[in-house]
Amino acid sequence: MEAGMEVIFDMLIHVRTHSGRRGLNIVYNTAMLDKREIANDLVTLRDLIRWGISQFNAAELSFVQGMPTAIDEAVYLCLSALHLPPDFSVEYFDCVLTVDERLHVLNFFQQRIEDHKPSAYITNEAWFSGLSFYVDQRVLIPRSPMAEIIQQQFSLWISADQVNNILDLCTGSACIAIACAYAFEDAQVDASDVSSEALAVAEINRKNHGLEDRLALIESDLFSSIPDKRYDIIISNPPYVSSHEMQQLPAEFDFEPGSLALAAGEAGLDIVLPMLQQAGDYLSDDGILVVEVGYSKPALEKLLPEVPFFWVDFEFGGDGVFVLTAKQLEAHQDDFRRVKLL
Ligand SMILES: C[S@@+](CC[C@H](N)C(=O)[O-])C[C@H]1O[C@@H](n2cnc3c(N)ncnc32)[C@H](O)[C@@H]1O
Repeated sequence: MEAGMEVIFDMLIHVRTHSGRRGLNIVYNTAMLDKREIANDLVTLRDLIRWGISQFNAAELSFVQGMPTAIDEAVYLCLSALHLPPDFSVEYFDCVLTVDERLHVLNFFQQRIEDHKPSAYITNEAWFSGLSFYVDQRVLIPRSPMAEIIQQQFSLWISADQVNNILDLCTGSACIAIACAYAFEDAQVDASDVSSEALAVAEINRKNHGLEDRLALIESDLFSSIPDKRYDIIISNPPYVSSHEMQQLPAEFDFEPGSLALAAGEAGLDIVLPMLQQAGDYLSDDGILVVEVGYSKPALEKLLPEVPFFWVDFEFGGDGVFVLTAKQLEAHQDDFRRVKLL
């Protein structure tokens, strides 16, 4: 075998052995590429964005953790690497970049292409409800469709002037709690998580958004350490991925705190069901419970066919979020207590 062929053959064996869910992406392994050489060819921001899009598509990256397409990710990573604002005008995309700047962008691209590391963990930043959040691998990357109904102040179900206390259960980075604090400027918000590591990230975001006076962070396994008070809104994006779905997740999800933030037992309902059983004890008379269950929606409906879950119809995409009123929770207490998970 010729020397060159031997190298390619070795690469193939390596990829077949180690690629796992990632498939055969050998051609685009940027470790093999000389970043300096690429930086000589790619001179402008526009060049780098175009190259990034091609490489992301060829590497079959997953785009479900914030940025919806290869184009969005390439633009975002370029702007972030160059400390440019997200609304940086395309008029300047043909400006020549210094070699160091190009290498910095290529370094970001390399982590995305080679490791499948999600962009938010490369930049330590994620956007939710038009707000910027610090994130690292201690928390899930914010992406809940609930941002849309938070901004609308849940107006289909509750009047904003009635909302004094909000609880965000399973808060992670505190993105939902903080978005709620912006939407309801006079409300007190409590945010809880079982993970002290996640709460350390939430603490950074609380400080960055100047919400120390209005946002309390509570370490709690579901309701176990939640104060004995009544909330007008309890909102949650809990873990809800079923065992089967956990097996199917793309490589990007390996970077998230999966066993704690994603996995929720055989049917994906291990956290949601106890939440339904207990939430009523913490809601005000006209309060509401808003919960994302994603793809576990059919399993929940099958388990509790008699419960009138209101499934939110999102204008900007997303599914699997239900709303129940305090009265509905009370009326179905026996049903919640009766059901047993596998
Ligand atoms: C899907 S992540 C959501 C994080 C955040 N709400 C968001 O939308 O980005 C679920 C979070 O629930 C937390 N969690 C898991 N089990 C929990 C439990 N029993 N009680 C409280 N929090 C829990 C995890 O630590 C994780 O931060």
